[in-house]
Amino acid sequence: MTRKPSADSRINAEDIRRRKGGVPIVCLTAYTYPIARLLDPHVDLLLVGDSVAMVLHGHATTLGASLEMMIAHGQAVMRGSTRACVVVDMPAGSYEASPEQAAASARRIVGETGCQAVKLEGGVDMAAQIAAIVAEGIPVMGHIGLQPQSVEKDGGYRIKGRTEENIAALFRDAEAVEKAGAFSVVIEGTMEDVAAKLTRHISTPTIGIGASADCDGQILVIDDMVGMTVDRVPKFVKEYADLRSVIADAAARYAAEVRSRAFPGSDHVFTTASSKDET
Ligand code: KIV
Repeated sequence: MTRKPSADSRINAEDIRRRKGGVPIVCLTAYTYPIARLLDPHVDLLLVGDSVAMVLHGHATTLGASLEMMIAHGQAVMRGSTRACVVVDMPAGSYEASPEQAAASARRIVGETGCQAVKLEGGVDMAAQIAAIVAEGIPVMGHIGLQPQSVEKDGGYRIKGRTEENIAALFRDAEAVEKAGAFSVVIEGTMEDVAAKLTRHISTPTIGIGASADCDGQILVIDDMVGMTVDRVPKFVKEYADLRSVIADAAARYAAEVRSRAFPGSDHVFTTASSKDET
């Protein structure tokens, strides 16, 4: 029996669908329990993106993500959140082969995490997969424009919507994802004016990343947004904090105090004078 997305008091996929054209939908990626707890009060949607393979596991591309990896991180984010709609990415290799494969993988993700929805990359080429998952009662978020799982096929991370031919293909993709029943669609790495026109063209809410402020919502990778990214920071990222410096500074001060025996100090050790029996 297919387990349905959990019916608790969380924001769900239909709530997100109804937000078309309204107050922008706030989305961030999350991969771990503590980050989910910190973000949950502030966002509408948490995406357990396959970017986890790069951000937390050090892979060169998102192709390093596996179904098991996505499920483990999906479980952690579900444990750490109570109100946001949690969407788990379907990793490359888990859905492209057939609508049946896509439905089976989506059932497994929802069954083992309790998340509200899954996301997959593709437009016209993946419409049958989206429809098959939706037919199981599992909401799907689409992902068009720049599709990181196609980076090897595309020969790099290339901005979309620069030629008339590509713009026409993007419109076909957006229409296909909408018709297949997706409740929302990420538009990534797409020319600003094209992303805005796509948003006006479909009734499915669009979530932009490197796209347009006119999209129905925005998403960023959490580590990029808080300044934790150690390699190249993409142009579309705004860093709202500088955790690289905070962590490097804390590590340097800790190292100096350990070497000088200033840490642990009297507050951080147990002596007969300590009254408490617990850590
Ligand atoms: O994997 C991911 O983090 C994503 C977002 C960038 C949309 O797909």
